Amino acid sequence: MRPEGASPEETPHPTPRTGHSSGCAPRPRARSVGSLVTGQSETFDVVVIGAGAAGLMCAMTAGRRGRRVLVLDHADKIGSKILISGGGRCNFTNLGAGPENFISRNPHFCRSALSRYTAADFIALVQKHGIAFHEKTLGQLFCDGSAKQIVTMLMDECRAGGVIVRTSQRVTQAERLGDNGFRIVTDAGHIAAASLVLATGGLSIPKMGATGFAYDTAKRFGLALTRTVPGLVPLTVNADAFGFDELLAGVSLPVVATSGRHRFAEAILFTHRGLSGPAILQVSSYWQPGEAITLDIAPGGDGTAHLIDRKQQRPKSETRGILGDLLPTRLANALAQSRLPPGQLANVPDRQLAALGRLLNGWQITPTGTEGYAKAEVTVGGIDTRDLSSTTMEARKVPGLFVIGEAVDVTGWLGGYNFQWAWSSGWCAGQTA
Ligand code: FDA
Repeated sequence: MRPEGASPEETPHPTPRTGHSSGCAPRPRARSVGSLVTGQSETFDVVVIGAGAAGLMCAMTAGRRGRRVLVLDHADKIGSKILISGGGRCNFTNLGAGPENFISRNPHFCRSALSRYTAADFIALVQKHGIAFHEKTLGQLFCDGSAKQIVTMLMDECRAGGVIVRTSQRVTQAERLGDNGFRIVTDAGHIAAASLVLATGGLSIPKMGATGFAYDTAKRFGLALTRTVPGLVPLTVNADAFGFDELLAGVSLPVVATSGRHRFAEAILFTHRGLSGPAILQVSSYWQPGEAITLDIAPGGDGTAHLIDRKQQRPKSETRGILGDLLPTRLANALAQSRLPPGQLANVPDRQLAALGRLLNGWQITPTGTEGYAKAEVTVGGIDTRDLSSTTMEARKVPGLFVIGEAVDVTGWLGGYNFQWAWSSGWCAGQTA
C-alpha cells in the first residue's frame, strides 16, 4: 500500500527499472550535471539513499534548487517511520528544540543545522500545506489528523521539485567515480551522481527495514563511527530488583527519573519485562549497563515527612494502606507489603518509615538491559560528526558525500526532536548537494 501522495507515475527516465517510481512530473531544469548514459546507467545530480524523513527533506530541498534528484529506498513504501510515529499522529517537531536536547560525542555539532532550519521553519511548511496540529505537552507538536499528512506533504514538495522516488530498490554498492561523483549500483542498474546522500537511518526496528547500510558505506569511504546502542527503549528489570514477587505490568505513574546527570519528569509504565513509559525511554538513551537509574515516585513531596505525619495522624491504621493516597493501588500495596511489617502504623519504628520515605524519593533500580533495537525508537551513536561539516553535512574528506538524519551520531530526546534533526540535517544537505 502506498501513502497518500505517493502514487506511482511515469518518470522522465526511459531506463528500465524494477520496483516502483513515484512522484514527479518532468519539468525544465535550471542545471544538471549530465545526461543519460548508455545502457543501464543514468545520471543524476543527487542520489539520496533512504526515503525517510531526512532523505525526503533533503531531496525536496535539492529539487527546489533545480538539482536533478533521485531517491532510492529498498522498502516498498516511503516514510514508514513517519507513518507509525506519535501513535499515527507524528510528533513532527518540538517548539523548544535546541542542542541541549540531543546526545552526541560532540554536543555542539547539531547547533548549526538546528539554527539554519528551525522548528519554526518546519511549522511554516506544515501550515503552508494546511495541516492542522496541536501541542500535546512539553512543546511536542502532533498532527490533529494523521501522520500520512506529513508524508503526503513531503511527497508533494518532492514532486514540485521534480524529484524521482523509487521504492523496492536494493542498493548493492556505492563507490567513488573518478574524482568527482559516485557510482551507485542497484539491482536495476548503475546510476552516476555528482552528490551522494546517505539517509538510511539507524538500526532501530529492523523488521521495518532498518539496516546498517549508512554505517557500512560511510566506513568504506573512510568515515569513523561511534559506538551504536538502542535508544528511547524500554528497560528490562527483574522482579527482585523491585523487591516484589511479581512485575506490576500496566501500572503507570508520574515520576522524576534520573540516569547520571539527566533527569526527566514524565510518566513510567511497569511492563511484563520491566519498565517503559516516556521517562524510562528518555533515561534509557543515557543509561549504561550495570548502572542504577533513580526514580522519585513521589515527586514534589518529602516521602519521609509524609509517612511520619501519617503515623502521627492515624497510628491505628494498617501499614498496607499507608501509600494509598500517594501511588496507584497495586504499587502502593506491593511497596508497603514488601517494606513494612503487617499491623498498625504505631508499631512501626520511625527509622523503618524513613527508609521507605527515602525509597519514595530516590528508588534505585538496576535494569538487566534494554529491549534492544527491536523496540528502540532510535539508535544512539552513528557516523562520527568529526568527519562531517556541521553546516552542510558533507563528509570532510569525501567531497560530494553527505550523511543526514539518524545515521549521524546525533540522537534526540523523546518529543519530536529526532524528526527536527532529520528535517534540519536534511535541509542543510539539500542546500549544498
Ligand atoms: P528513517 O529510518 O526514517 O528512514 C530511513 C529510510 O532508509 C527508510 O525508509 C528505510 O527503508 C531506508 N533504508 C534503510 N536501509 C536501506 C538500504 N540498505 N537501502 C535502501 N534504503 C534503505 N521521532 C520523532 O521526532 N517523533 C516521533 O513521534 C517519533 N516516533 C517514533 C516512533 C517509532 C515507533 C519509531 C521507531 C521512531 C520514532 N521516532 C520519532 C524517531 C524517528 O522516526 C527517526 O528518528 C527518524 O525517522 C529518522 O529519520 P531518518 O530519515 O534518518 O531515517
